[in-house]
Amino acid sequence: ASRGAAASAPGAAPRAEAAEGARLTILYGSQTGNARRAAEALLAQVQAAGLPARLVRADAYATRELAGERLLYVVISTQGEGDPPDDAIGFVEFLQGRRAPKLPELRYAVLGLGDTSYADFCGIARRIDARLAELGAQRVAEPALADLDIDTVAAPWRESALAQAREHLKPAASPAAHVATVTPLRPAASWSHERPFPAEVLANQGLSGREFRGTGFRRYGVVDKDVRHLELSLEGSALAYEPGDALGIRHRNPEALVAPVLEAARLDGDARVELEGETLPLSEWLATRRELTRLSRPTLAALAERSGADELRRLLEPTSPDFAALLADHQLVDVLRRWPADWDAQALLAALRPQAQRLYSIASSRKRVGEEAHLTLDVVAYHAHGHPHLGAASGFLSALDEGAQVPVYIEPNERFRVPADGARDIIMIGPGTGVAPFRGFVQERAETGAGGRNWLFFGARHFNTGFLYQVEWQDALQRKELHRLDLAFSRDQERKVYVQDRLREQGRDLYDWLEGGAHLYVCGAIAMGKDVHAALLDIVARQRGGDADAATEYLGRLQAEGRYARDVY
Ligand code: 2AM
Repeated sequence: ASRGAAASAPGAAPRAEAAEGARLTILYGSQTGNARRAAEALLAQVQAAGLPARLVRADAYATRELAGERLLYVVISTQGEGDPPDDAIGFVEFLQGRRAPKLPELRYAVLGLGDTSYADFCGIARRIDARLAELGAQRVAEPALADLDIDTVAAPWRESALAQAREHLKPAASPAAHVATVTPLRPAASWSHERPFPAEVLANQGLSGREFRGTGFRRYGVVDKDVRHLELSLEGSALAYEPGDALGIRHRNPEALVAPVLEAARLDGDARVELEGETLPLSEWLATRRELTRLSRPTLAALAERSGADELRRLLEPTSPDFAALLADHQLVDVLRRWPADWDAQALLAALRPQAQRLYSIASSRKRVGEEAHLTLDVVAYHAHGHPHLGAASGFLSALDEGAQVPVYIEPNERFRVPADGARDIIMIGPGTGVAPFRGFVQERAETGAGGRNWLFFGARHFNTGFLYQVEWQDALQRKELHRLDLAFSRDQERKVYVQDRLREQGRDLYDWLEGGAHLYVCGAIAMGKDVHAALLDIVARQRGGDADAATEYLGRLQAEGRYARDVY
């Protein structure tokens, strides 16, 4: 439609205010792909309405353009305790900093993605919203904060965002000419988050030197960690991944999780329940459609309401110091047992969040393993509140027999890649299952004949049970596919030793490698990532004569250059 035709269409909203030549910028920061998908959906809607828009990943955004924007929508997920995703760190720092421009001409809206099982729900989205207002920009919609059931909040937000875009933008004269997508939209792969590929299990092996599978999870409480190596077939799927990418998994909650929930709620799993346009047995609803392990504030509020338990209500008060512990230490079944209520199936299902996908770092290179993806898996299993407990996805995956099928898709992580230049050295820090992507990195670099050196820091509790892929690393050392290996077994001696202790010991060499252009990678637990970062700051400061600010800047520069990448969870 031409501009004139659209403007004079009967019933069209007045466009007196619409700025000439203005376009919408949709900026997104995404860690696991959800924010990217939500932003892409918004772009599609806006483009379908004939309005000029572009989609930009936050780390590809030239911040000097901010002052010239007229309409900006920010879609951003939250990492850990209210932090931005890695691809948005630079943008957020710019926005929070002194150099951020006044934005009196900007209209904006923020969609935050988060998880109400974390205390600082959508913290980063709320801070961006507040900061943009502080800089003088005008909010066109209240910030929308979405939980795991993203579309409940995101879909209506997109509708109002679209209405606002209609209000404030002129239709593109020729849609194609005005549409600039800075990060290219991925070609629609046939297998996706919405339509996962059924991958066959080729192998499921213990990596801890003991075989736990088949022993029943009651045994787990008394043993050390069970870590498993899974090999999945991607044959015929045309699914392609790069080392550093994650595999998204749609799991099925194990019977060992579903049965106790039914028992605690005193409900019949065979009862057929109609909901959301589907009729399934209650046990199937719980196995495939709901979160049973990760509680959230809304779920707990619904449980408190139903049970009428004052104690639970008090724990949920905003000022309660015990709320975080309640979230962290309880699965659904613990709350149902501790604060019993008179449940019916509909009410229970309504109280629970929809099941979210899980992401696992891929531990292989296609160049070595062909049409397979390998995973390294920590099996969550422990005793608490007088009962055995099992993780949902890890419990599901660990119990799979060869030949079973798992629904999977690829979740790309473009920020976590081996250097394009194979001559570069790399330093990999990955204790525990954080080592997974580095198995893929080392395979990839060996298969492509990369000339740079590979240095791995690995840690685990014990040498005997925790040295994941020990034989492979030793082979790789011998074949000169791995050049240095530093190990930290935390519980094999009186004093704990962690990977960051090894980093400090090797500070001089580490700094030399960085100065020589090495890329640095960290993968594993959030707390480890923080402590490793602190150790790196110390090392750089010491090697550069003690200046802490200079060290911060040094690591910041590495990050900006894509030479310091983290994948922490
Ligand atoms: P721990 O369990 O003995 O404390 C893999 O899980 C390894 O990471 C284990 O040896 C574990 O030690 C260790 N680990 C735990 N917390 C860590 C931290 N903050 N930094 C580095 N390593 C850590």
